[in-house]
Amino acid sequence: MTYTPSESRYDSMKYNRCGKSGIRLPAISLGLWHNFGGVDTLWNARSMARRAFDLGVTHFDLANNYGPPPGSAEETFRAILRDDFARHRDELIISTKAGYLMWPGPYGEWGSRKYLLASLDQSLARMDLEYVDIFYSHRPDPDTPLEETMGALDSAVRQGKALYVGISNYSPAASAEAAAILRKLGTPCLIHQPKYSMFERGIEGGLLDVLEREGIGCIPFSPLAQGLLTDRYLKEVPPDSRAAKPHGFLQREQVTQEKVRKASALNELAKERGQSLAQMALAWVLRDPRVTSALIGASSVAQLEDNLAALNNLAFAADELARIEAILADTSL
Ligand SMILES: NC(=O)c1ccc[n+]([C@@H]2O[C@H](COP(=O)([O-])OP(=O)(O)OC[C@H]3O[C@@H](n4cnc5c(N)ncnc54)[C@H](OP(=O)(O)O)[C@@H]3O)[C@@H](O)[C@H]2O)c1
Repeated sequence: MTYTPSESRYDSMKYNRCGKSGIRLPAISLGLWHNFGGVDTLWNARSMARRAFDLGVTHFDLANNYGPPPGSAEETFRAILRDDFARHRDELIISTKAGYLMWPGPYGEWGSRKYLLASLDQSLARMDLEYVDIFYSHRPDPDTPLEETMGALDSAVRQGKALYVGISNYSPAASAEAAAILRKLGTPCLIHQPKYSMFERGIEGGLLDVLEREGIGCIPFSPLAQGLLTDRYLKEVPPDSRAAKPHGFLQREQVTQEKVRKASALNELAKERGQSLAQMALAWVLRDPRVTSALIGASSVAQLEDNLAALNNLAFAADELARIEAILADTSL
């Protein structure tokens, strides 16, 4: 069926400035790590992308290796771009990344110039795009000089294959160093993509301060802890959930009793706020003004709609935040 985007798509979304750049990103962005691969249903993937765009999600996040098989999420997105979004390219921020294993041999992963630029060419071919909006170094490479990795990102921009660059999973110190190198090259670092949720709070220990100081935006991934901070696992591990799928990145063993008990307690608080747990978890990530956008995943249109309705209540009373802290710190749970 032909898709015509909703005329009201810009009416309810909040757009936050990304660091000190000219770009504003939707408060909630959609990632294609899971549920958009060759093993997944194209119609479901397409329905989620369409519904996201209808609700004001202008940012779609990919990486060379998303699938499975690796590369297939970019191929799925090519079909969605061609059939649904073709007339809307200038309304979209499309990102991809390189860093993890894509092809055999010494040039198929990490952070060399050789790998990054070849991988970007492959991503562009898979998506049938002339350029991506953001190209990321997906992970720091301990064995490649940072100047080489950042130099490759700068080259991608100069070649017209990316408009902006970003880094992901870099430590505070490496982020500051990367930002300095990129600034010197004349291609400022737009954004950092770290893991962040109520269950994974590492970035509070320094990274957010570095990003604020450097004027870099922050787009936390897995804000729902891959589903642990939703009602998905409160009763069981459902057979269609990420933890139950053989190719899901969330392992069944990570669905611990402790996590489920904490999620249940958080769920009660969310109910008092008139929200689902997923909505409260997203509002919590977005409570810090240094967070530009929460980068979610979803396996259905219903989940996507639930998550986007988080925008209806982003405010927290001080005692609600204190109760969340108490639940997270409670060792009896
Ligand atoms: N830079 C990196 O290294 C890196 C790493 C990981 C992810 N990412 C990016 O971040 C994106 C998001 O990661 P993520 O998928 O782990 O994020 P997430 O939002 O924490 O988890 C998404 C999963 O949570 C469940 N879920 C979502 N909404 C729900 C709702 N309303 N109710 C119940 N369950 C719900 C679904 O699980 P089920 O599938 O079980 O339904 C969904 O697949 C990725 O797509 C990718 O773009 C980047």
